[in-house]
Amino acid sequence: MWNSPKVGILGGGQLGRMLVESANRLNIQANILDADNSPAKQISAHDGHVTGSFKEPDAVRKLAETCDVITAEIEHVDTYALEEVASKVRVEPSWQAIRTIQNKFNQKEHLRKYGIPMADHRELVSNTPEELAQIGEQLGYPMMLKSKTMAYDGRGNFRVNSKEDIPEALEALKDRPLYSEKWAYFKMELAVMVIKTKDDVLSYPTVETVQEDSICKLVYAPARNVPDAINQQAQALARKAVSAFEGKGAFGVEMFLLEDNSLMLCELASRIHNSGHWTIEGCALSQFDSHIRAILDLPIPPKSLELLQPSIMLNIIGGATPDSHLKATEAALSIPNASIHLYSKGAAKPGRKMGHVTVTAATMHEAETMIQPLVDVVDIMRA
Ligand code: ADP
Ligand code: MG
Ligand code: NA
Repeated sequence: MWNSPKVGILGGGQLGRMLVESANRLNIQANILDADNSPAKQISAHDGHVTGSFKEPDAVRKLAETCDVITAEIEHVDTYALEEVASKVRVEPSWQAIRTIQNKFNQKEHLRKYGIPMADHRELVSNTPEELAQIGEQLGYPMMLKSKTMAYDGRGNFRVNSKEDIPEALEALKDRPLYSEKWAYFKMELAVMVIKTKDDVLSYPTVETVQEDSICKLVYAPARNVPDAINQQAQALARKAVSAFEGKGAFGVEMFLLEDNSLMLCELASRIHNSGHWTIEGCALSQFDSHIRAILDLPIPPKSLELLQPSIMLNIIGGATPDSHLKATEAALSIPNASIHLYSKGAAKPGRKMGHVTVTAATMHEAETMIQPLVDVVDIMRA
């Protein structure tokens, strides 16, 4: 039976939880490797889950025994354990792709060979102030000092405005492998979800992402006031970048749209992505539906990835108090066409993604008008 293979998922956070929602609707069993009671496990009652961490080789081996195909909701996993189990179960996307992508410097070195445009960057070898000052002379200021590994939601980036910031920057990212990147003067940040299947590379429409403190706050689908030619170019660039890696599934591609309308890759992720949450309401097949289908070689009609209605997604991010996300949710309950997704992570911590809300409407203007009262509430709670 097409729905009898079992899927093993490294990670049971909100992305894993939304993957489980998709798998459940197809009667596909998803076995989660994460702590007990992680968000994904809470909505999946069966005895196939594994307790432990996606960074522990033994736990990854154990998960491999329970399933036919392994995938990951996060790139910061033990790829050596994945390499080992790849002889017994399918690993999608490939462990090679995850290993290269999880180190953002290696990711960019790899993509450079495929002619993907990116901000100029330099590797740090000694992490000394002298070394960074020399790089600063080459790249100019401001520049973005970045951790090669374990970076997400801006935790791994430090903006270096001048030579004077160097000691603080190195202190903030100390003991981490680093590289520094030339400042990208973008007018907008764009993102594209790419779905790699056994014989195709498909993409969703280009969206606009708005970051606050380097964390994604809002996603507009489609990107506002972006001509169709750029929408198409961004999708083509995203597909080209993802084609540089082996394996099936969803990949999130972040890009900068520069003043001269040229595009540059910011980074990509070997997984379902925050910039694609809008697809749950905005498309016939969500990124989570498509990921499950892609790794199991099930059909994905390209038409099902087209935008049905303009959509805006707002992240509910933990604020000053443990219940801040519930106050935001309360406001969302009264917004027309608002779909609310809470991740059941317990108490909010500042900067923690607690849920999201998607509003769809016949026009982008209407969606903007409808979601504005909620954006106001979120802005007040943050302040
Ligand atoms: P992560 O999302 O893993 O924290 P990113 O590289 O995507 O790391 O950086 C987060 C955000 O920081 C980006 O979305 C962008 O707003 C900003 N940023 C990253 N690199 C640059 C750069 N070279 N120039 C200007 N802004 C940048
Ligand atoms: Mg990013
Ligand atoms: Na849908």
